[in-house]
Amino acid sequence: MKILVTGGAGFIGGNFCHYLVDKYPDYNIVVLDALTYAGNLETLASIINKNNFRFVKGDITDRKEVFKLFETEKFDIVVNFAAESHVDRSIENPEIFLKTNVIGTQVLMDASKNYKVKRFHQVSTDEVYGDLPLNRPDLLFTETTPLKTSSPYSASKASADLLVNAYYRTFKMPITISRCSNNYGPYQFPEKLIPLMIKNALENKNLPVYGKGENVRDWLHVYDHCTAIDLIIHKGKIGEIYNIGGHNEKTNIDVVKTILKELKKPTSLINYVTDRPGHDLRYAIDASKIENELGWKPKYNFDLGIKQTIKWNIDNQKWLKNIETGEYLRFMEKHYNK
Ligand code: NAD
Ligand code: TYD
Repeated sequence: MKILVTGGAGFIGGNFCHYLVDKYPDYNIVVLDALTYAGNLETLASIINKNNFRFVKGDITDRKEVFKLFETEKFDIVVNFAAESHVDRSIENPEIFLKTNVIGTQVLMDASKNYKVKRFHQVSTDEVYGDLPLNRPDLLFTETTPLKTSSPYSASKASADLLVNAYYRTFKMPITISRCSNNYGPYQFPEKLIPLMIKNALENKNLPVYGKGENVRDWLHVYDHCTAIDLIIHKGKIGEIYNIGGHNEKTNIDVVKTILKELKKPTSLINYVTDRPGHDLRYAIDASKIENELGWKPKYNFDLGIKQTIKWNIDNQKWLKNIETGEYLRFMEKHYNK
């Protein structure tokens, strides 16, 4: 079995590569990643020299190079993680989100169609469903919830989903789509809520909480996301969408306070800042389809996962320091000094 993992030098794709190498030593894994600011080869350091692993630096929007790679490698499965993934950056510069997330997905599907890939799996997000009200805890996103996007990021992901579905219907391409809630865990880039708050707390810096910190996210440990994708690409039904959620709904302020408590840091570090424009109120996933049809069950609850994630960040300061390149510092300064 030969699997192409696009975006494998990023947070979730990188974790998925570690997971595949451990679980399927007889599979061949190829990563295609452009190494944008969010991609980091150090994430793959312990597996990059394995015989059954190959890293290719390249852009999913580069049709010629993508087709060349498919011609050489003859992939059985493609799992598309490659994306621009940060909502705040999409508000600053939507264009690259459309290019990578929409056009890039189309190029990969064209190549998959041309070279008769047996499964094209699109890694999507619950953000395509928009948001839920804070005062209706009974409401959850199901796979049939209408798409209703809020940010340029979620609009680009929803566009890609529609395109993937269109290729299924029109060309009978063997596709699956997964839509998951917010991930956390090892190797997450410290611009997203959890790793940023851990990093700032460790450095005794302010923790910028948007608005009142009342927004709710449903936290999914990245390991549980990997087990879900594993099940979908091996046992999922072609043409289907699967929601993946952690059953761990928390307000942002609760998450931040938990991190401060674990690190024994004062709550005076919390700094309420201007809210994100168009900020989605609440995400919550109904994952009963993947649980009932494929037998998926998350291993982590939030209490266990956050402790492990904090420890990973403390133990991997070198990985974190190396991320602080000029581009990272420029974005952080511009965004948080507004
Ligand atoms: P990430 O930003 O950490 O990593 C993205 C990776 O894609 C990076 O390695 C980057 O170099 C690569 N990449 C970007 N543009 C590329 C291009 N044009 N060609 C090739 N590679 C390119 O993202 P992540 O958090 O790991 O998210 C992975 C996927 O999961 C994304 O599709 C995202 O939309 C989806 N998702 C993420 C979350 C989350 O909480 N992080 C939740 C739901 C869905
Ligand atoms: P984020 O990690 O960017 O993921 P997403 O926007 O895809 O859900 O943000 C998670 C939540 O945390 C979201 O409600 C925005 C909030 N947030 C802050 O309050 N402060 C921050 O500095 C960041 C990055 C996010």
